[in-house]
Amino acid sequence: MTPISMTINLAYVVAATLFIVGLKLLSHPSSARRGNLVSSIGMLIAVVVTLLDQQIISYTYIIIGVVIGGAIGAWKAKTVQMTAMPQMVSLFNGFGGAASLLLAWATLSAIAPESRSAVSLFVFISLYFTLLVGGVTFSGSIVAWGKLAEKFPTKAIIFTGLRELSILHLIGLVVVGYLFVTQPENPLWLWLGIGLALSFGLWATLSIGGADMPVVIALLNSYSGVAACAAGLAVANTVLIVTGLLVGASGLILTSIMCKAMNRSLSNVLLSGFATPVEAGEKIEGDIKVLSAQDAYYVLEAAQAVLVVPGYGMAVAQAQHAVRELQSLLESNGATVEYAIHPVAGRMPGHMNVLLAEADVPYDHLLEMDDVNPRMENYDVVIVIGANDVVNPAAKEMKGSPIYGMPVIEAYRAKTVFVLKRSANPGFAGVDNPLFFKDNTRMVLGDAKETINSVIREFGDD
Ligand code: TAP
Repeated sequence: MTPISMTINLAYVVAATLFIVGLKLLSHPSSARRGNLVSSIGMLIAVVVTLLDQQIISYTYIIIGVVIGGAIGAWKAKTVQMTAMPQMVSLFNGFGGAASLLLAWATLSAIAPESRSAVSLFVFISLYFTLLVGGVTFSGSIVAWGKLAEKFPTKAIIFTGLRELSILHLIGLVVVGYLFVTQPENPLWLWLGIGLALSFGLWATLSIGGADMPVVIALLNSYSGVAACAAGLAVANTVLIVTGLLVGASGLILTSIMCKAMNRSLSNVLLSGFATPVEAGEKIEGDIKVLSAQDAYYVLEAAQAVLVVPGYGMAVAQAQHAVRELQSLLESNGATVEYAIHPVAGRMPGHMNVLLAEADVPYDHLLEMDDVNPRMENYDVVIVIGANDVVNPAAKEMKGSPIYGMPVIEAYRAKTVFVLKRSANPGFAGVDNPLFFKDNTRMVLGDAKETINSVIREFGDD
């Protein structure tokens, strides 16, 4: 080993160590910023060293790419709304997949046709695998972005013949893979492989329902790592293999956590399009009872034990600071206030924890769903703030419902439930919510922040 290659390998080890330290720091909100910085430094070292390691003929296109990409990235990072972060993360996953796909394509094009027979089979298998996983990640992430941004329907799109089409598709991917590897000089197999991968990612994600999107996003994140790792194997780049493995493994861990949170097996989520369509849910009986913020105040004023269940609507309304203020008022009035956090509330893991931490809600007031459900009857009032799917009793009561079996916060078992949202419309999963029709539920309609501020004003007037 020459001194130069030793230095390069050493720099790769430093970069990989920084990634691991960064990942560790990312696991807690208070150290997450530092984690981001440490990982970015690792990435800078990896990129610079990789460029120095190659015989780059001209840096022109590289510099143009860095300037344009960096400017777009910086602008998006500065301007993105907190509620739009999940779809941005989904786009990042997709771009990771697309980058691996392009790298595999460029690597294949750089191998002169006459020297292809001298290249090992392993390289072509890695290249095909990269194209495949990169393509599925890209198109799947674009669909996930569309669902999260509510530009595409969030419900599962299932049509007759989907099962047969998917099986044919999988067979096609294997057959084209064999032809690609054995006849790499024929560009037809490259084009077919890319086309099949893109279309597979497209409808595999379209056929998964909104409530299962947390699992899909975590899995696509993992795929983007797997694609990078396969690309690293194809171009023999150690740091790409290591980073790809880290992203792939952490994405898989997150996928498993999400599956547990949804009480679904991974195969159950991925093959939902293969399953026999479920019967439409039963019709919900009863009436919706609406309450004004002023009347809600009278009930809250007398409450001794209050539970807050935040959801995506709290993030949209940016109501976390108002919620914190209400908590202080209720506590000064002698009540206990706790928060129940569903693992998939909001649109990204830890979404509610981040918002509540931003509003200085003490961490020990936050309870997990499994801790809060057994003592739900003890709460005088449960205030559901912009949450819908995560409190939907259809998951327990309606066998035909697409969310049947998903663990939910059983707010309906409390003495009184206030639901703060703008209408009785369904949540992200597109499933009607029987909670709104229960005898002990009152809907306080309107923007969550305005409603809470109205209740706060009532405390002030008192
Ligand atoms: P959702 O079921 O999406 O319900 C949010 C509710 O907030 C909506 O029904 C909406 O009703 C209400 N809302 C919106 N803006 C509001 C405002 N300004 N003021 C008051 N209410 C407002 O949210 P959830 O209960 O948190 O469930 C999360 C869903 O997202 C689950 O289906 C989950 O699977 C999915 N998901 C989660 C993640 C992760 S990792 N957390 C990732 C992807 C998908 P109105 O329009 O009537 O106001």
